[in-house]
Amino acid sequence: MPIFLNIKLAVMQSRPTKTFKYSAVIAVFWGAAVMPNFTRVANVSDLNPGENKVVNVNGTEVALFNVEGEFFAISNTCLHRGGPLGEGMLDGDVVTCPWHGWKFNVKTGVSPVMPTAKVPAYQVKVEGNDVMVAVD
Ligand code: FES
Repeated sequence: MPIFLNIKLAVMQSRPTKTFKYSAVIAVFWGAAVMPNFTRVANVSDLNPGENKVVNVNGTEVALFNVEGEFFAISNTCLHRGGPLGEGMLDGDVVTCPWHGWKFNVKTGVSPVMPTAKVPAYQVKVEGNDVMVAVD
């Protein structure tokens, strides 16, 4: 939990002075600002290993992948011309865009061919049977 970690770090690095008070307030505010907002997007059973699909997270199209039982999410929009990566062919942890063949690692969003090309990669967590994605 970033909030508690930040407070602990602030306590360890600061004496109980006015500076400490400001540091703690900033740490709490920063921790709260970066807490991911997860949205349920699928059941675990919706995607078998090696499968993928497009899901919607609060208006954002996301490509969701099952790589050997572990779920990953990246932007559904290909950097080339906007092709739907969630409809691409998954081979290991690399998806190939169905429109013109650009490739992206679904764990990182980085192109294995052109490392400077990267689509956003999103946090994923599984709770029970629910697959959840955070896009912020
Ligand atoms: S739109 Fe994806 S490769 Fe062209």
